[in-house]
Formats: sequence, structure tokens, C-alpha cells
Amino acid sequence: MNFHHGVDLAPYNSFGVHTSAAHFCEVTNLSELKEALAFGAASKVPSLVIGGGSNILLSADYPGLVIRIDFKSIEWLNSDGLVRVAAGENWHEFVKSCMNHGFYGLENLALIPGTVGAAPIQNIGAYGVELERFVVSVSVYDGKQDKVVEFSHRDCEFGYRDSLFKYPDARHLIVLGVTLQLATEQTPNISYGALQAEFDGQDFAGITNQAVFDAVCRVRSSKLPDPKILGNAGSFFKNPLVSESKIESLKEAFPDLPCFDAGEPGLVKIPAAWLLDKAGWRGRRKGGAGVHQQHALVIVNVDDASGEDIALLAQEMASSVLGRFGIALECEVKLV
Ligand code: EPU
Repeated sequence: MNFHHGVDLAPYNSFGVHTSAAHFCEVTNLSELKEALAFGAASKVPSLVIGGGSNILLSADYPGLVIRIDFKSIEWLNSDGLVRVAAGENWHEFVKSCMNHGFYGLENLALIPGTVGAAPIQNIGAYGVELERFVVSVSVYDGKQDKVVEFSHRDCEFGYRDSLFKYPDARHLIVLGVTLQLATEQTPNISYGALQAEFDGQDFAGITNQAVFDAVCRVRSSKLPDPKILGNAGSFFKNPLVSESKIESLKEAFPDLPCFDAGEPGLVKIPAAWLLDKAGWRGRRKGGAGVHQQHALVIVNVDDASGEDIALLAQEMASSVLGRFGIALECEVKLV
């Protein structure tokens, strides 16, 4: 396996930010991964594991070893919807493969950038569906015990854009693959408002999973910038969960505040995009970074932004929301 040194990470992060990694390698199997970790340990440098780099912000050069996970395989384990997929597969291509194989359910998660390995870490979600509902188990390499461990759905402690794998205590766990239970019957899910609107007036019985896939791709492409064209990492912040009492007082000042079920008693989810939009952020620029014209929750690399430009813009956005609404926004994107 080759180790590279002084590597520009722009092609490996969806913001397209130019920072440099002291050391870099791509691993395609477990023995290469172990070799990479051993190199990092012997060189006494930290290691950073990445997949598609679509949910990270690199704000400075990385002094250690960046390990890009490139494990590939899809195993159709039975004819009842059980499938195991390796961490390095491209998420969107995998969604398409499942649909073409007659394994349904992931269509609402179409076009989410990045790799399969990142999907359970932040429990990706879109258009009324979260990944966790399909996860049977996640296979990880446990660097402390030097063995592969299968984490059941329950072990993963999934939440809204959250799992155990996101936390510093889990730094020694590297996702190798995911086993999912999908459906073998058509199961179109158009519960999400923006998606429902795409099927206005249509008979539900005639809606296929392929049609949902197409609609999700249409809606996403109309609002969210393609990272290959305009660098970005999707939603920069999570949607905040706010107490019902706080909502009541906010509604007095902002009667049009949109509210969604948070799935937790006493709490309401509100769109961070709405708060940012109301605070005037849509389309604004700072240095090479800007806020997407079509979506206030998406920070874009307009003109060769540095990681610092993006981080500073994000900070200003969050503090203006805190000042105006008294709501603290939490980053969805991982800051490195
Ligand atoms: N809105 C605004 N201004 C904007 C954009 C949106 O006011 O510029 C308001 C509208 O009221 C809209 C509401 O915000 O109805 C929600 O917007 P949208 O449907 O685009 O969803 P979101 O809550 O902003 C979440 C996910 C997205 C996912 C969409 C669709 C998070 C942090 N983000 O965004 O996920 O694609 O729902 O399900 O939960 C991502 O995680 O990177 C991501 C893109």
C-alpha cells in the first residue's frame, strides 16, 4: 500500500477546501487499514478516517495521517431484502443498486453525497426517512481490541443525525460496512410535505418507489447545490429541538414559524433554514464562502474559500440566530 505525503485534500472534501495532510493513504481491506493505523502509531501522529468527505470542514492543515476508506462490495444476503454493503461504496449508487435489485426503502435518501460508511455515523435522513430504520447491524473495526465487532441497531444509539460513532469515546471504532433490512414490496413514502407536493392529484396506489426516487432527485437538485459544481456539505447545522413553552413565546413574535414533530415529548423541531433565512442570511457572502441562494442552511464555497472563511461565516450565522431568537444552533458538519 502506498503512503503519500503533503497531499492536497481538496479532492477529498466536498467543500473543495485546500488543506494539506502530512500523510495520506487509501485502504481497500482490513489488512490495509491495520497497516495504515500501524504507520500512524509508529510515526506518532494522529489519524483521521474519512469516507466521501461530504460532512467535514477542514479548517487547517492536518498534521497526521488521513485514511480514506475505500472498501467495496455489495452482498445480497437473501431474497427477503437483507443486504450487506461495504463502507467505501458510494451511497447514491448503492441506493440505485438496491432499487434495481428489487430491494426498496432507501429511495427517499437518494442523492445524499458521500459513502455508505458515513451513513450510520450521522444517521443520514431526508424526506421523511432516516437510515436507522433499516439498520440491522454495523460492522466496525475496534482498534483498541484489534478485532471486528458487529454493533446491533440498539448498540448504535441512533438519534436525529446522531449515533454513538460520532462521539470522541468511539474514536477507536472504524465503520467497515452495514447490514440493512429492506423491503421486497413497493413501499413508497411520500409523507414529507415537499415530496407530497410532487405527487399532487395522483392516485397513491399508482406511485412506485422509482417515482419517489425520481421525485426526491428532482426536489433535492432544485434546492441543494451539487458539490461537484459548488462545494458544500449539505445542511451545515442541525434543526434545533425547542421546548413547547419557548415555541409559544416565539410564535407571538413570529406567527409564521414552521414547527415539526421532534419525536420527543415536550419538544418541537424547527427548521434552522427558516431561522437563518429570517435573519437575512440567504445569499450572503463572507470571503470566498457564502450562503446558498436557494437554501439558507447550506454554506457554499463560492470562490476558493478557506476552511477558516467557512468556519467564520458559520460562527456569525449561529451567533445571529442566538441573538435574534435565543436558539443555539449545533453544527451538523464535523469540524476538523
Ligand atoms: N426554509 C426556509 N428558507 C430556506 C430553506 C428552507 O425558510 O432557505 C424552511 C421552509 O419552511 C421549509 C423548511 O425550512 O419548509 C424545511 O426545509 P427543507 O425541506 O429543505 O428541509 P431542512 O429541514 O432544511 C432537512 C435535512 C436535509 C434534508 C431535508 C429534506 C437537517 C439538518 N437537514 O433539511 O438534510 O435533505 O430535511 O428532508 O435535518 C443534510 O443533512 O445535509 C441535508 C441536506
